[in-house]
Amino acid sequence: MSQPARPAGTATAWAGINIALVKYWGKRDTARNLPAVSSLSLTLAEMGTRTTVTFDPSLTADVFELDGAVRDDPRVVALLDGIRGLRRVERHARVVSRNHVPTASGLASSASGAAALAAAAWAATGGDLAAARADRAFIELVRRGSGSAPRSLYGGLVELDRDSGGVRPVLSAGAWDLRMVVARLARGPKTTSSREGMARTAATSPFYPAWVGSHPADMVEAREAIEGRDLPRLGAVMERSTYKMHAAMLGADPPLRYWNGRTLDALDRVQALRAAGVGAWATMDAGPHVKVLCAADDAEAVAAALAEVAAPGDVTVASAGPGALIEP
Ligand code: DP6
Repeated sequence: MSQPARPAGTATAWAGINIALVKYWGKRDTARNLPAVSSLSLTLAEMGTRTTVTFDPSLTADVFELDGAVRDDPRVVALLDGIRGLRRVERHARVVSRNHVPTASGLASSASGAAALAAAAWAATGGDLAAARADRAFIELVRRGSGSAPRSLYGGLVELDRDSGGVRPVLSAGAWDLRMVVARLARGPKTTSSREGMARTAATSPFYPAWVGSHPADMVEAREAIEGRDLPRLGAVMERSTYKMHAAMLGADPPLRYWNGRTLDALDRVQALRAAGVGAWATMDAGPHVKVLCAADDAEAVAAALAEVAAPGDVTVASAGPGALIEP
């Protein structure tokens, strides 16, 4: 039986969340949301956002529904305005979005959310996603939505460049069989948004200049580790970047501490795994959750160790995933 044709003006996109191995924290241009440092991330297959955008002539304003509830989100409207400008569309849109991660919990749903929204909106206007990825104005829009979001446009290992603000794939998802074991260690939204936290860190932390200044060497090291498929080296630079970012946050005034007690318990478990010969390295973002990078063969042991700290059902083994895609 032939598929019914997709109605004109609508499209559904999936974007996986991405976890930074070399972290982004701080901006060099807040208006354009240009980062103060480059970053390198892994896009995940099992966690992300699915969004349907429908440009509808009967609407008098954009409508945004996230996980079943209608919300007012100026960032969504700004992104839609940007797409309308680029694609010369005037209609308002209905946006229906579902997160397959806890929203605003530090599990990077803002990145997959902005990437899926932009991809779906672009496709709903008849645009081709491959062309969008090559379009600087499109990348700029996605980055304004969330600084880490352009990284979710590509799969596998992805780099976002500080100077150009552009994004490029480094290694496709299938080229290195990595796992990220994600332990969700709290419920509810994070206390301070990344945007606010970055501004405070840059304005008040005496460690911020050291964070920015020492960052380029980590990017070089991570690229070399990836080229050589050297997981212990990549894991070590990821942990170093993570701890330096959190040190800069802790030095802010008032201090920014995103960790909770269980974060430290999980870090102890990771250290014990390494002492026992299991290759496992931890990273944390603007939240208490711990994500552990490891080889596919070690994922089960890592998940079992984190399950001693997280609530039942709160440990997910994720593999490298594809970049944002349009669903039929
Ligand atoms: C700690 O991309 O959420 O996850 O650009 O202000 O939207 P904005 O920030 P956002 O910051 C992510 C910061 C991080 C580290 C990272 O993903 O690189």
